[in-house]
Amino acid sequence: MTEQMMDAPYRPHGLTNGEQGVLGQPLPRIEGAAKVTGQATYAYEGTPAGIAYAGIVGAPRGSGTIERIDASAAEALPGVIAVIHGDPRMPAGEANSRAMPSFASDTVFHYGQPVAIVVAENQAVAREAAALVVVEMTPGQDRFDPRAEPIDTAPKIGFLPPIAKGDLDAALAEAAVVFDQTYTTPIHFPAAMEPHASTAWWEDDKLIVRSSNQVIGAARGTIAQALGIDKDKVRVLAPYVGGGFGGKTGVGPEVILAAIAAEKIGRPVKVALPRRQTAYLVHHRSDTVQHIKIGCDENGIISAFAHLSVAAQHDDGEFLEPVPFGTLPLYRGAVRHFKTDLVRVDLPATGAVRAPGEAVGTFAVECAMDELAEQLGLDPIELRKRNEPDTDPLSGKPFSTRRMIDCYDDGATRFGWNPQPPASVREGEWLIGTGMAAALRGNFTVNAEAIVRLEADGRAIVETDMTDIGTGTYTILAQTVAEMLGLPIADVEVRIGDTDLPPSAGSGGSFGAGSACSAAVLACEDILTELARRINASPDELRLKDGCVRVAGRETALADLVRGEPIVARAKSGPGAESKRTSQASHGAQFCEVAVNAVTGEVRVRRMIGVYDVGRVLNRKTAANQLIGGMVWGIAYALSEDGIVDTRTGHFVNPDFGEYHVAVNADVPQIEVHFIEEVDTSANPAGAKGVGELGISGAGAAVANAIYNATGVRVRDFPVTLDKLL
Ligand code: MOS
Repeated sequence: MTEQMMDAPYRPHGLTNGEQGVLGQPLPRIEGAAKVTGQATYAYEGTPAGIAYAGIVGAPRGSGTIERIDASAAEALPGVIAVIHGDPRMPAGEANSRAMPSFASDTVFHYGQPVAIVVAENQAVAREAAALVVVEMTPGQDRFDPRAEPIDTAPKIGFLPPIAKGDLDAALAEAAVVFDQTYTTPIHFPAAMEPHASTAWWEDDKLIVRSSNQVIGAARGTIAQALGIDKDKVRVLAPYVGGGFGGKTGVGPEVILAAIAAEKIGRPVKVALPRRQTAYLVHHRSDTVQHIKIGCDENGIISAFAHLSVAAQHDDGEFLEPVPFGTLPLYRGAVRHFKTDLVRVDLPATGAVRAPGEAVGTFAVECAMDELAEQLGLDPIELRKRNEPDTDPLSGKPFSTRRMIDCYDDGATRFGWNPQPPASVREGEWLIGTGMAAALRGNFTVNAEAIVRLEADGRAIVETDMTDIGTGTYTILAQTVAEMLGLPIADVEVRIGDTDLPPSAGSGGSFGAGSACSAAVLACEDILTELARRINASPDELRLKDGCVRVAGRETALADLVRGEPIVARAKSGPGAESKRTSQASHGAQFCEVAVNAVTGEVRVRRMIGVYDVGRVLNRKTAANQLIGGMVWGIAYALSEDGIVDTRTGHFVNPDFGEYHVAVNADVPQIEVHFIEEVDTSANPAGAKGVGELGISGAGAAVANAIYNATGVRVRDFPVTLDKLL
């Protein structure tokens, strides 16, 4: 097996001498037809024989101790097979998602925490019976307000340690201009189109789970650990996943409960969470309070930047929203203070939701930059350009590739950037405004393996345990292999979504595409080397196109070179010295025009343009789709998304789409996405940086800044609902 741990900038042979030009093309999703014709089977589909259905019983109070569970009424309901609770194997919190059932403990961390599971002959009976289970609890601390005191200023959780470089107070005291404001963002739900669902069955001592999950390799380990069985005894299947947004990065309690129930009744069991239950059993993005302090000179050159926040988590949770993550390398300033404090609450787990840190952190920072530009009398793009760092302002490392200035310039040209004074443009009763914001998302490459087989018929198969959560994984893997081996896209078969395949990155942190395609690139390089050997050439000399290899005017069909046995290569890609030597991120600039009704305060987003630097673009359609999706979410969290807690009980007031308002078609205007493409040879062998989480970064701030420009009203508490504008 070839291993390439990015120890030097890397440019693969196949991507330089491939003549296909298929990589990067805006091809439609290769599995699209299967999806729209209903042939793609999701976690709740593909029902094994003898299936039973489960419903999950949630704790009726947000904190306290379980005293008694009375399942007699549920057990008496016709069609109920079993009611299970108090399984002693359930360790509390042993998961990469904290939304785990802890039946062994009588402590309740949040409202709706799973305390029992009902198994029945059909879903309706399972859910009805679950509602009949009586759970008696004694009250606990009932800390339900994420904006409450006390605040832990030295939390022991989270992956981003506090950063305090230089003397902030002294720098601010010396600065000619000081900016100081506080912004807040509410709870956001990672509400995927496909609610969380799992089907579990046992084949002897082996557990097979069909689950809606983003990172099945990690899920396999988590499931094995939770059940106390060997990892080899668990197989996770996720051929199709209907969205994730971070909410499916870990293992939800429904997976473990389905497995326990299936073992107990000796039949396959499936469970789908009702929409309202996903709000409790799946983590959410924390509420945040963000304090921004900036010191700069009269020209706007920043000397000190502080991004100091508070986020919430329950007592058993170890994730802490890394609020300033995107701010770290964004602007100049020798003095840099970044931290996130903690409020402990008795609410469902907070966790990684699309662009953890950046999504809400950029709201505060990019609104602050807009406000500071006005304070200085500068164009907001000019202020940002003056503060564009030459090297990573925290670590001093060189950037791998950073085309932020080009994103500003190209975006400004395409948008027709020509900002007018606040509240100065009016069309009838509509106030018109424009706004912009920077986008930044750290780039990560993680370990990924792939096997590529060149078959005797000249077709290729690529195998890796990646998932496609709607992002285009099937298609970009096919394009990568087609490009490398000079094959038509239809001659590449992609096998993913099965933990029996080589361990890969999974879909998370925007690292999936770059990492998995890099493993495929390296495996293809080994195949090129073997092909070159068979025709006595060097890999550099090969020209591959239409299933043929050409060397010095001689053309041979790949099928003729394979000779019976397939050529099989397995490769592993991962971060190495180059990932440490350079500072890596994806960048972008967001532009937005809004109309605000002067009478009602209604906001209509009229147009948005985003220009992005994501390294090599693997597929201009699926990459643009990802970015558009992020921008749509930006509209939604700027204007409507607002998870509201009833601070008396710890339950969510609006845990469904009826009252938690995501952006719908009528809210979303024409959105344009453009790329500044520069292959990043330091990022990974594919040269691709992360895409998925970049589009949401800065998007909400661009909307909020446009609203300010339209109305002259600065709202610092998201979402910007109309009552705040009147
Ligand atoms: Mo992402 S929040 O790692 O799916």
